[in-house]
Amino acid sequence: MANALKHFLDLDVIDKATLREILDLGAASKEADPSSRGDGPMVGKTLAMMFEKPSTRTRVSFEIGMRQLGGEVIVLSQNETQFGHGETIADTARVLSRFVDVIMLRTDDPQKLADLAEHATVPVINGLTDLSHPCQLMADVMTFEQHRGPIAGRTVAYSGDGNNVVNSLIHAATQFDFSLRLACPDSLRPDPAILRWAIESGADLTVTDDTLVAVEKADCVVTDTWVSMHNKAEDRVQLLTPYRVTEEVMGHAKDDALFMHCLPAHRGDEVVDEVIDGRWSVVWDEAENRLHAQKGILQWCLS
Ligand code: CP
Ligand code: NVA
Repeated sequence: MANALKHFLDLDVIDKATLREILDLGAASKEADPSSRGDGPMVGKTLAMMFEKPSTRTRVSFEIGMRQLGGEVIVLSQNETQFGHGETIADTARVLSRFVDVIMLRTDDPQKLADLAEHATVPVINGLTDLSHPCQLMADVMTFEQHRGPIAGRTVAYSGDGNNVVNSLIHAATQFDFSLRLACPDSLRPDPAILRWAIESGADLTVTDDTLVAVEKADCVVTDTWVSMHNKAEDRVQLLTPYRVTEEVMGHAKDDALFMHCLPAHRGDEVVDEVIDGRWSVVWDEAENRLHAQKGILQWCLS
């Protein structure tokens, strides 16, 4: 980090104790008396959200979270700003920093996020890149712990595309000390540098091409879309069909296993209705926890 700003860029560059502190802040916000909403710690502060890709959960949860903490929000979309029309990210960072107190960016290229953080003089939050989605994993850890207690020492299995969510899942497994078993086709494995980092950091990580091996006696089964916003469908559906999370797949996990999906789900592709609507699923709590976890992130960034 070039300066002392508290950027929330990725889970591998924030230490374990701080990540836990952020979750605790989020959990405290969740339990706070709703009557205190609107006069909280963000009074007089403004969050700018920049979107180069669509969003439902990230957009709404950050906006509502900031408002509940007493702050204000402005949303900048690529089409309506100079950022989408040739102004550099560095200049955008310098200008926005004169107006707002914290910036969230959803973009394709992780280098844009790094450039924003380098040139901003206010904290920057990663709202998803093609490479990672750390806010999602904070909500996922919060959701697991809400239902099953501490995640440390438990086993999480993922079946599907080795995408941005999985890269952050690998970071989370390492930082929150849970075992991770990934089932992905060989050609769709997660980012090799992130896998290497996890192994060097002592993560308990298994990568296989067999979903049933990955989910065997797992405490939680996770999947995500087969075609992320930056992907073309091409041959992905054929390649990923064996990785669909079905009732049979869930039958190999522990009897009380949870099912999670960051959403949006493509029902019938990566997960069947019987699972996402079934007894294992905590996907709506997971979506809600984006709000609470990000209230923790915002408070940490501006503390
Ligand atoms: N899970 C998630 O980030 O959803 P959105 O794309 O709707 O923000
Ligand atoms: N992997 C998905 C996550 C969406 C929240 C994507 O990047 O489209």
